[in-house]
Amino acid sequence: MDVVLVGLPGSGKSAVGRRLAARHHAAFIDLDADIEQAAGKPIPAIFAQDGEAAFRRLERSAVEGLGPADASREVRRVISPGGGAVMDPRNRWALYRGRVAAWLDVRPEVLAQRLRRSPTVHPLVHGGDPMGRVRQLAAGRERFYAAAHRVNGVAEVNAVVEAVERLVEAGPTPGTALLRASTKVGEVVVGEGIAADAVGAALRRADARRAVLVSEPGAWAAFGEGVAEALRAAGWPVEAVMLPSGEAAKQLAVIGEAARELARRRVERRDPLVAIGGGALGDPAGFLAATYLRGVPWIQVPTTLVAQVDSAIGGKTGVDLPEGKNLLGAFHQPAAIVLDVAALRSLPERQLRAALGEVVKMAALDDEALFAALEADGEAVARGDPGAFERGVMAEVVERPAWAKVEVVTADEREQGSAGGRIALNLGHTVAHALEAADGYATLLHGEAVGYGLRAAVRIGTALGVTPAERGARIEALLDRLDLGRAPLPYPPEAVLAASETDKKHAGGRLRWVLPTADGAVVRDDVPGEAVAAAVRSILAGASSPSPSPSSSSSPSGAAA
Ligand SMILES: NC(=O)c1ccc[n+]([C@@H]2O[C@H](COP(=O)([O-])OP(=O)(O)OC[C@H]3O[C@@H](n4cnc5c(N)ncnc54)[C@H](O)[C@@H]3O)[C@@H](O)[C@H]2O)c1
Repeated sequence: MDVVLVGLPGSGKSAVGRRLAARHHAAFIDLDADIEQAAGKPIPAIFAQDGEAAFRRLERSAVEGLGPADASREVRRVISPGGGAVMDPRNRWALYRGRVAAWLDVRPEVLAQRLRRSPTVHPLVHGGDPMGRVRQLAAGRERFYAAAHRVNGVAEVNAVVEAVERLVEAGPTPGTALLRASTKVGEVVVGEGIAADAVGAALRRADARRAVLVSEPGAWAAFGEGVAEALRAAGWPVEAVMLPSGEAAKQLAVIGEAARELARRRVERRDPLVAIGGGALGDPAGFLAATYLRGVPWIQVPTTLVAQVDSAIGGKTGVDLPEGKNLLGAFHQPAAIVLDVAALRSLPERQLRAALGEVVKMAALDDEALFAALEADGEAVARGDPGAFERGVMAEVVERPAWAKVEVVTADEREQGSAGGRIALNLGHTVAHALEAADGYATLLHGEAVGYGLRAAVRIGTALGVTPAERGARIEALLDRLDLGRAPLPYPPEAVLAASETDKKHAGGRLRWVLPTADGAVVRDDVPGEAVAAAVRSILAGASSPSPSPSSSSSPSGAAA
């Protein structure tokens, strides 16, 4: 068995790790020391001479060098990664999977004191305000450490070692938690094989008597049934309420029928609803939770990529009306959002690929690491390649955009538009909505429409001088590679432009276009009609990026829609 100790600099990883290793005749692996050896210089010198990015690359290869987790019952290795190694989702995947991971939790005040007294100067706390710096580090990293088992690291070394030994006795948990955070929009948990455990924990926190699962036949067969079985095995009485699959669930009549079902089963205020499904299930199940008994708590277990990176986060719930989509609803934040990438293993390729339209959007909104991950492995993700799960790529492609959305919506919970820039999430959506309307919501999936919409935004931005040519070409090359927004579309340009005119009327005569910049997006309400018309015509014609990059020439072609 391998034990991994994580925590901020000064939390005692080395002292506890060495003592634990000695007690079990195990090897103690200090990954920072391994890195120093490989680089032939101390870490402060790597930071100073080569920069943090170079250090992070060395760190990733040191983590990969550990190989698979040791499967024996006895402790064989105690691993202490540097304080920041776990910021990279792929490192966390490689470190936590199959191992006993313990977080030595020490308050920032105690840490700052310890670091001041330490004979070695840590590069990240070097300088004026160690306390402020430690607090800042804690705020940025706690969600990654909190995925491991929390151990009080302030106690005396032997007591901490014994606390870790109690975890060792229980052995590694079957699933892998990667991120855990309590936020204004609910507790967020990311991992693989964690759904039943995380739902159970959320139910306990809510003092629930039973698990009332709301799902639909597709998600239920693929994932929900397994969660129900695991909850039953853990001792929870389980009730299941089924809504129809797909958009048919987003009907007021369905909500009425489901509410009657809850009443017949005497569901009370303290019985949270657990929504298991994609966005077309989460939206109405959340609306049911918002309105039944004037509001009951709910837990989101999204089972599609769209739902994991987008619809489950932000508390927007609702149903469609004959007059339009999502016209009736409420903001109702879930108590917990459980993002279990295991659910995605059964998701059809078209669903995965389309959802990447939203993920590319998040990358274009200034997430360089996500951009690079998609360029390297996006195609494997789109195909649902088992290797993409095994290497932790799928988890990264869920975690990065999902967390970015958490940050945006916590800054702007009710779409007031002022703080936090929730409007930036509309990048690519103006034309996407117009295409969906022209399509009559019949054939295009939303993410596929966003793929076209992103290209339109790039081309409008380029025409206006907002999007640098290089950035535009990079975004379009990635879309080419993922086969998004490439195939010609059969809608008349006039119909698409008319649909965006309707949007404009709703927006009080001025459409606010979100356009890509060199490293993010700007909002413009002065986009000339000719620029929109030209962009719409060009995407309908199915043109690939105006200047395809060499790498995109090898990507597959074919209809995306
Ligand atoms: N609330 C929001 O902020 C928000 C944001 C974006 C989209 N949405 C809404 O989300 C909806 C689209 O959601 P979606 O794309 O997740 O579609 P969906 O919920 O209809 O799921 C797509 C299909 O996949 C099946 N499925 C679900 N999970 C599966 C799994 N793990 N394995 C195999 N099959 C599975 C479903 O049965 C369905 O047939 C739309 O109604 C849209 O309006 C809401």
